[in-house]
Amino acid sequence: MPGRLEGKVAVVTGAGTGIGEAIAHKFAAEGARLLLAGLPDDPVDQVARTLAAKGCDADSFLGNLAEEQSARACIEQAVDRFGRLDILINNAGVFLEVAECQDYSVENFDLTILNNVRSVFLMTKFALPHLQKTRGVVLSAGSEAGEMGEPNNAPYGGTKAFVHAFMRGVAYEQGKYGVRANCVCPGPIDTAWTHKETGPMNEMMEETTLAGTVLGRRGTPEEMANVYAFLASDEASFVTGALWFADGGTTIAKGGPGKLVPAEFKIQPQPTLELAHGHDGLKNKQPANRLN
Ligand SMILES: NC(=O)c1ccc[n+]([C@@H]2O[C@H](COP(=O)([O-])OP(=O)(O)OC[C@H]3O[C@@H](n4cnc5c(N)ncnc54)[C@H](O)[C@@H]3O)[C@@H](O)[C@H]2O)c1
Repeated sequence: MPGRLEGKVAVVTGAGTGIGEAIAHKFAAEGARLLLAGLPDDPVDQVARTLAAKGCDADSFLGNLAEEQSARACIEQAVDRFGRLDILINNAGVFLEVAECQDYSVENFDLTILNNVRSVFLMTKFALPHLQKTRGVVLSAGSEAGEMGEPNNAPYGGTKAFVHAFMRGVAYEQGKYGVRANCVCPGPIDTAWTHKETGPMNEMMEETTLAGTVLGRRGTPEEMANVYAFLASDEASFVTGALWFADGGTTIAKGGPGKLVPAEFKIQPQPTLELAHGHDGLKNKQPANRLN
């Protein structure tokens, strides 16, 4: 059976590690030809070689995609090499610091904007003329954090909110060319970012992040790649402007931040209104509790 992405050419950013590596493997298995992009130190060459050994037509591009010349060169390399572009996956991004806002470094704020916002704009800008020729698709990595905010890395959540609105704006204006645009919005995924040993999270943040999912665990990179593959394929031909949450239920979970509030701030203010029936609303209604 032909793969769902047979004959398609995709650029995948941040393809050397984590979710991007999984997207590369999944897209290769679905028959896509690939240009895998990453920062100069990222193992994108290695991933491309692994996929080439499995019969995938895969190439790599090393450069900082937050820089205009690199982003332009990356798209040009894909089109020169494969003759067309059908899919852009803006997966590259960074999660650099965990700190309350008053302590957050200006340096990492600027880097977060560059890598998570500027790169997505530049890559999309340079890809669109080619995607318009193929009625292609652009998918960007959003996040549940773009909807809910990210405590202790508030700038990161802000960059993902940008990506959400940016993709929706692109989806609207590019519909007339037959180009689709969507976000995949993961929850905590089993990559370097969500482990205290390999990322900036401490033990408590790691714990609360997982406890904040309905499914009680990290998602796998492969589970994210499956969503990207569907949205990139013609099976999703009527899906555009979507924020596709694949977050283990983080956005519907009610977490427990109140546990962190010190006792003296939990005291209710003294009432000034003379209310007599505040707790009477369920009187005579036989409220039931059938929890075990
Ligand atoms: N891991 C999670 O829990 C999670 C949750 C929600 C969203 N996401 C999003 O998924 C995407 C991938 O995350 P991941 O966990 O796989 O992280 P990761 O660090 O493994 O992968 C991101 C890759 O992007 C590359 N990159 C960053 N800036 C770049 C630039 N300017 N130019 C080229 N390459 C660049 C990095 O070097 C890295 O290899 C990110 O956009 C992230 O915001 C991840």
